[in-house]
Amino acid sequence: MIELTPLWVAGSPVHGDATLEVRHPYDDHLVATTTYATDAQVEQAVAAADAVRHEAAALPIHVRAEALAAIGRAIDERSDEIACLITAENGKPLVWARAEVGRAVSVFRVAAEATRTWSGEVMRLDTDKAAEGRLAYISRVPKGPVLAITPFNFPLNLVAHKVAPAIAVGAPVVVKPAPKTPLSALLLGEIIAGVGLPAGMVSVINVPDERAPELVADGRLPVVSFTGSGPVGAAIAAAVPHKHVVLELGGNAAAYVAADFDRPGDLDWAAQRIATFANYQAGQSCVGVQRVYADSDVYESLKERLVAAVEALRTGDPNDERTQVGPLINRAAAERVGTWVTEAVAAGARVLTGGVRTGTTYAPTVLEDAPGDAKVVCEEIFGPVLVLQRVDGADDALRRINDSKFGLQAGVFTHDIQLAFQAHRVLEVGGVIIGDVPSYRADQMPYGGVKASGVGREGVRYTMADYTYERVMVLTGIDL
Ligand code: SIN
Repeated sequence: MIELTPLWVAGSPVHGDATLEVRHPYDDHLVATTTYATDAQVEQAVAAADAVRHEAAALPIHVRAEALAAIGRAIDERSDEIACLITAENGKPLVWARAEVGRAVSVFRVAAEATRTWSGEVMRLDTDKAAEGRLAYISRVPKGPVLAITPFNFPLNLVAHKVAPAIAVGAPVVVKPAPKTPLSALLLGEIIAGVGLPAGMVSVINVPDERAPELVADGRLPVVSFTGSGPVGAAIAAAVPHKHVVLELGGNAAAYVAADFDRPGDLDWAAQRIATFANYQAGQSCVGVQRVYADSDVYESLKERLVAAVEALRTGDPNDERTQVGPLINRAAAERVGTWVTEAVAAGARVLTGGVRTGTTYAPTVLEDAPGDAKVVCEEIFGPVLVLQRVDGADDALRRINDSKFGLQAGVFTHDIQLAFQAHRVLEVGGVIIGDVPSYRADQMPYGGVKASGVGREGVRYTMADYTYERVMVLTGIDL
């Protein structure tokens, strides 16, 4: 008898009909078996979210805050188990899985804190004689139940980023995790079922990607929050133009190392950070470093350090505590990365290190002189490959960073405060990180892109604002 990992429909564990096997990306062993929700179970989850929406919105702040804090504590208490689960289903090394669990704990803690200070505002309206005696109270009201469609690359924390703000504002949420990595989300469903929120407020159900359009179109879920690929995001936005759609899509994040970043230790730091964050999670992060622009004055020194730092990364079994770079999500993904590198080399790029695939693992790779129209430069590689290019000063670097269909985050290694402000002013991205890689993200800060990288922002308070609308009450005849 196979033990099935349950789905969580309106706070209760259930099994669907078709089985879904979750296999380890490193060696393909069976990690767990779960199921896809039946049509009736999908309907039950959506109907329950719809039915509970008024009760959820009316939940006292302290109830929401205590539930969020309890979820964070429960994740923390089970952190080893959850980290192992993330590694097993996603293949990211334990060191990164632990980091992800720690971030999810802080997302729920931040949401618990944010909900306590989510009080609305009061505005005097007597700025004109005609409005004397009038006062506005402005509160934020949930737009309604949220459909959260989450990706495989952060199977816990990107679920947390959609669920915690929903609970914080009193919005029900139906989660559809990535079919490749459903286990951490289902475990989160189990934890949430134990904290005493109204049943129906959170459901976590496996739904095949082909059936997602029905959920997206369901009028009882007026908010759709999606993290994933550009084409799917565009299809969602086109399918439901009347809904509130939040899209966190891809990127080909760039780092610029300026000529002034040459004090003792600077280039070691830049090389170390770029090497790490081009390859963490095998490059499967929307803000993983993909393009590196370095001024001529520092180019050769950086190149030498960068290649050494990349070659020092320990690649292999993600269950080994010492491993820094594990496999990609599956063989097809690793093969695609290999194809893109081969194409770039055929177009004139040079491989400084890497360029080799073993099963689902692709060796951390540094390319030099890839042409601007090579996919490794202009598309999202989502693999452990970075492209190094020489630039001629800040204007050239910033122009090249902007020369992309994406605009998520950028990193600028400089000590020059004027350059920092210039980069912040000029770069068409959602975030500019000074002195570090574009991959830096603190979970409370606004996070999201422009151009093909998406619409809307995450970051707990920003998602809370996104899930809600302002409702004004005007009081008349008040003696102010
Ligand atoms: C992403 O890859 O979209 C998220 C990156 C992060 O949360 O660090």
